[in-house]
Amino acid sequence: MVTILAVCCALLAAVVGYVLSTFLALFLRQARSPLRNLNGPASPSFFMGNLREMHDMENNNLVARWENQFGSTFVYRGFVGGHRLMTTDPAAVSHIMGRAYDYPKPEFVRDSLASMASGREGLLTVEGEVHRRQRKILNPAFSTTHIRTLSPFFWVKAAQLRNMWLSIVDASSSDKEDGVRIDILPWLNRATLDVIGEAGFGYRFNSLSATAGSSEGETELAHAFSVIFSAARQFRIISVLQAWFPVLRKIHRNSTAMKEAHASIRAIGLSLIRERQSAVVSTEFATPTGIGSAASAEPQKAFEGRDLLSVLIRSNLSAEPSQRLSLSETLCQIATFITAGHETTSTALTWTLYALARAPDIQSKLREQLKAISVDSSDPSKPPAPEHLDVILSCTYLDYVVREALRLHAPVTSTMRVASADDVIPVSKPFYDRHGSVRTSIHVKKGDIITIPIQAMNKNTEVWGDDAAEFRPERWARQKSAGPPGLWANMLTFGNGNSTYGTRACIGFRFAINEIKIFLFVLVRDIEFLMDESIEIEKKVNVVARPWVKSEPDMGNQMPLYLRRVPP
Ligand code: HEM
Ligand SMILES: *[C@@H]1O[C@H](CO)[C@@H](O)[C@H](O)[C@H]1NC(C)=O
Ligand SMILES: *[C@@H]1O[C@H](CO)[C@@H](O)[C@H](O)[C@H]1NC(C)=O
Ligand SMILES: *[C@@H]1O[C@H](CO)[C@@H](O)[C@H](O)[C@H]1NC(C)=O
Repeated sequence: MVTILAVCCALLAAVVGYVLSTFLALFLRQARSPLRNLNGPASPSFFMGNLREMHDMENNNLVARWENQFGSTFVYRGFVGGHRLMTTDPAAVSHIMGRAYDYPKPEFVRDSLASMASGREGLLTVEGEVHRRQRKILNPAFSTTHIRTLSPFFWVKAAQLRNMWLSIVDASSSDKEDGVRIDILPWLNRATLDVIGEAGFGYRFNSLSATAGSSEGETELAHAFSVIFSAARQFRIISVLQAWFPVLRKIHRNSTAMKEAHASIRAIGLSLIRERQSAVVSTEFATPTGIGSAASAEPQKAFEGRDLLSVLIRSNLSAEPSQRLSLSETLCQIATFITAGHETTSTALTWTLYALARAPDIQSKLREQLKAISVDSSDPSKPPAPEHLDVILSCTYLDYVVREALRLHAPVTSTMRVASADDVIPVSKPFYDRHGSVRTSIHVKKGDIITIPIQAMNKNTEVWGDDAAEFRPERWARQKSAGPPGLWANMLTFGNGNSTYGTRACIGFRFAINEIKIFLFVLVRDIEFLMDESIEIEKKVNVVARPWVKSEPDMGNQMPLYLRRVPP
């Protein structure tokens, strides 16, 4: 009896000691951080800092208000009061994002990305030299020339979606003049999942054709990803605790459904890799053979071997042996394409159609320009050749519309970094610290956490003018390089980097832009998108900025638009 009590006491003491020492280390680190001297908003909560108000920051202009109050460089509070740097200063942002290996993603961010199926060895989560090596092997798959060859994949899915929407519109008994209410978000989710499956790794999810609004007919892989994503989307206190107390990661067990999901992603991924490996080897050393897709009975000959995975395997084969990717690294890239490329693109398309629905004049002008381009898009089973689709990609007004939509509605609204060493970050404009002294640089200590508010920078009135919050594609006729330096269109929508010091910028940006352009071409020419102006749409950031209707919070994420046929 006494011994049991003693053991219990010892255990309890050990747990309390562990918890206390973790917090003590945290407080000591924070007490030494030079960020304490910077100005910033008051913290409304000891445990949650400013995080709760930040959750709604895409609706309440929080960052712009903080900037007005404190200038472009300030600190906010994270969990248990930790100071976190936030800056919109272009020189500081270039320094931080351009030194990707000195400023990696914080451990808790990598953990959450890894848990969203992309694994520990995918491009999104690896750091340093491993990242450099992986990026080199992956680059050829994402080159301008290669991505252009993927246009027919985008076209086929866009035409299929257009036909499905038109048949709903035609079958509806409601007044055709007002259009038919359709929640476009789940449709675009399914279409973009099909695209990334087929163009990414030659897998047919068939989610568009499966069944509207149900999981019936869902492929095994689609099911596995939906299990993992729905778990990842839930805010769980255990994930926060795991970030502080790594020991919990070992104790916490995955559910059976999770384990099965991981197992099927692995099994299907392996078979996709094996198929391509043998196809690549046989095309290199013998007569060309077709690549039968695992999920398709009738492979489309014209697309064979163009998917990103095939290119990556060819690239691996010709790389110097020390530079190659292992099998498990390659497996992680498949899931990474989905994590990084699926919902980002579907929300981008959703917000673009929303912006067009709210600006009927711009939508009509775009439609006119697109109708002037002659590509027959009536039959989804006969995609035009990639060269024919190039004219869509180079349409100027379409380009302005896409830039403007991605500026105002960046799917990834912010990103985080951590200083891996003490550093002095340059700024383009001096700022005041909390003591009222002028600062000409930002001092950070190893371990300091930094937030780059991508969306807020995209809407900064100093850079974009007083109409920064307006959807005005015409601005791009002159905007060219007025914005902060960025990978694409001088915006941070796809991140940023420096090819010498390391880049974590989006490797898939050309894929996404071309997909969005071809979808818009096919959809907007035949369908008019209208908006019920009494419906207020807000943004909820959960991995990406998702739309929800302010008066219908119980309905979850949705984007109800009214669709009608464009009169002939
Ligand atoms: C509109 C669509 C997209 C947006 C807005 C977007 C945005 C971004 C951003 C902001 C980053 C950098 C994150 C950071 O630095 O913390 C990123 C990285 C990445 N994106 Fe995208 N992305 C999109 C589509 C895609 C697609 C289609 C793919 C793949 C097929 C993709 C693959 C990746 C990968 C692998 C990374 C990690 C790159 C690295 O760390 O080296 N993305 N994306
Ligand atoms: C548990 O899930 C995590 C991601 O949520 C995954 O990385 C890990 O491999 C899983 N563990 C097992 C034993 O399946
Ligand atoms: C890449 O090459 C290495 C070394 O030849 C090999 O072990 C590995 O399986 C290859 N990876 C893929 C995905 O083909
Ligand atoms: C990378 O950074 C260096 C030094 O800051 C700069 O001179 C160079 O122009 C940058 N390169 C790119 C591609 O941004």
